[in-house]
Amino acid sequence: MKDLISITDLSIEELQELIAKAEDIISNPDEYCEKCKRKKLATLFFEPSTRTRLSFESAMLELGGSVIGFSEAASSSSAKGESVADTARTISCYADIIAMRHPKEGAPLVAANAASIPVINAGDGGHNHPTQTLTDLLTIYREKRRFNNLKVGFCGDLKFGRTVHSLIQAMSRYEGNSFVLISPEELRVPGYIKTDVLDKNKLQYKETDNWDDMAELDILYMTRVQRERFFNEADYLRLRDVFILTEDKLTNAKDDLCIMHPLPRVNEIERAVDSDKRACYFKQVLYGKYIRMALILKLLGVE
Ligand code: NCD
Repeated sequence: MKDLISITDLSIEELQELIAKAEDIISNPDEYCEKCKRKKLATLFFEPSTRTRLSFESAMLELGGSVIGFSEAASSSSAKGESVADTARTISCYADIIAMRHPKEGAPLVAANAASIPVINAGDGGHNHPTQTLTDLLTIYREKRRFNNLKVGFCGDLKFGRTVHSLIQAMSRYEGNSFVLISPEELRVPGYIKTDVLDKNKLQYKETDNWDDMAELDILYMTRVQRERFFNEADYLRLRDVFILTEDKLTNAKDDLCIMHPLPRVNEIERAVDSDKRACYFKQVLYGKYIRMALILKLLGVE
């Protein structure tokens, strides 16, 4: 495997190896601090980001490597009309590995085909976000010690939320999982997720517009309504506040419910929930760095 474009580029065994590597890094960080000496990561971000870009950058720095890149399209030659393929070919002359975020679905794949170095999809439009999924999987593993027989609720913008699509793809590969897809009708998961992922793997799922299944959930994955992917502001304003997680909605939830969110949060989780012991979203941020360290090591072939 040269690149990571979709979470399914990794086999279940490879995923497990990455999780094990991340856990080893967490326990023995000093052993890894020079592993990527003289290696360079390029972060090519054509869309806003706080966590993903800085998490990749800290991951590379903690491995002893260095980082170059840009954080907005306007400061790169794409503003002059350069293609993604040409940019990727150019960066291959400077760096050892690329992490790319782009508003267009498929752009990181185009980059991967043109680049001679590994390319990691750091989010492509409303499509996929495999490294957030690695982050989510490490969080689930550390909280639950398993990936099977879990009831997972996804809530919010399931249509444009790329992290949802990638995590459903990942969790669909394990036995006994079921999904409750909580969203307004207009923001349900895309058809291909139902036909090619959920139905194909014969998974149980339910689409709903209420919180009635809260008491049965093992994981609740909240998401932000993706304003930047809406065609008109009026629709965004109408839909953004439909699902807000408050402490009272959690009264009958399981004691060991794991509440996740890829962040950034706008207002879909009330601040009071942050101090609930079931809130895991800031732990997710930390785990993201370790799993990205493991991924960089794997793609660079560093032992
Ligand atoms: C997510 C993304 O960019 O898709 N953020 C992230 O990478 N942690 C979620 C979002 O923007 O809502």
